[in-house]
Amino acid sequence: MTTKPLGVGLLGLGTVGSAVARAFADRSKRVDAAAGRTVRLLGAAVRDPKKARDAGDIKITGDPFEILDDPEIGVVIEVIGGHQPAFDLLLAAFERGKHVVTANKEVIAKEWDALHEAARLGHRELRFEAAVGGAVPVVRGVMELGAIRPRVLRGLLNGTTTYICSRLESGVSFGDALKEAQAKGYAEPDPTNDVDGFDAAYKLSILVSLLEGRHFRPDQVRRTSLSSTTAAAAAAAAARGARIRYLAVADFGDKATKCRVGPEEVPADSLEGRATGPTNVITLESDMADRLVWSGPGAGGDATASAILADVIAIARVMR
Ligand code: NAP
Ligand code: HSE
Repeated sequence: MTTKPLGVGLLGLGTVGSAVARAFADRSKRVDAAAGRTVRLLGAAVRDPKKARDAGDIKITGDPFEILDDPEIGVVIEVIGGHQPAFDLLLAAFERGKHVVTANKEVIAKEWDALHEAARLGHRELRFEAAVGGAVPVVRGVMELGAIRPRVLRGLLNGTTTYICSRLESGVSFGDALKEAQAKGYAEPDPTNDVDGFDAAYKLSILVSLLEGRHFRPDQVRRTSLSSTTAAAAAAAAARGARIRYLAVADFGDKATKCRVGPEEVPADSLEGRATGPTNVITLESDMADRLVWSGPGAGGDATASAILADVIAIARVMR
């Protein structure tokens, strides 16, 4: 094992950031063994540094530049979310020679070219496994499929909407189901991102961009909101042997790729129909690799922290 510890800094210490801090505190030996070196969380920047936190023995600051300018920090994990200030902070991280790990699908989907270019120019890693699929290693999975021609990608990319759909089936109202999803830590800081499909569109844009090797913008995804779906509609679908699920679909036609996200009926006994909580299901059909399926917990602090730690460990191994 190399002796110099790798310092890590967090931007954001909410649902996901707190789970990352807990994981560093609870399983440092496991992380070090996987990384082949000592990896330590040194500090976190937050909006309100006066808020009580349970983040272990780390520096907490209200100034993100205290993290970005810390020479002991080699990897910056961004879990603030949203476009700004996240985008400027990620560019500032690359300018300062830091590697970047983010769970922020919005900034990756919108700023794909600029962030990849900043990483390339800085000779630093940009990793975003947690931005799609939570704990499910679908970003890595799709990146390993360089030779295939994709035909159709479809699935459940948003845990909050799957949770709401399954609760509607039990007769719970839309508003109460959304509150439950928020309490469980699945929903975005602004849950209209989940309900109106922005979150699923960002994730679909990222997967399509990886599969096509060029930026597929999120505003090219046709979006239909879940907000007008009711418990009565869920019951009517159930009477037909179906379930309503918030599907993301990319159809890679010969001429142009067409993408959509929105509520659709699926057979009750399908993988998507059987998914209830934050489970994500992603099915990819292609010419060489036939049908591949990824599935697992797609939202929640611990599931997302698992993917973030995997990215940090991968960077630590590259830096050895
Ligand atoms: P969250 O609970 O709202 O946490 C956001 C954190 O960012 C808070 O600690 C907040 O500080 C901090 N923050 C906000 N503005 C800031 C600023 N200007 N400077 C410094 N810190 C700032 O959100 P979350 O659920 O953890 O989500 C974070 C990211 O992970 C988002 O991109 C989300 O899409 C992504 N993600 C979430 C999940 C999930 O299941 N929740 C799963 C996958 C990916 P305070 O604590 O002081 O308010
Ligand atoms: N709000 C997101 C969801 C979090 O519900 O899937 C995981 O990206």
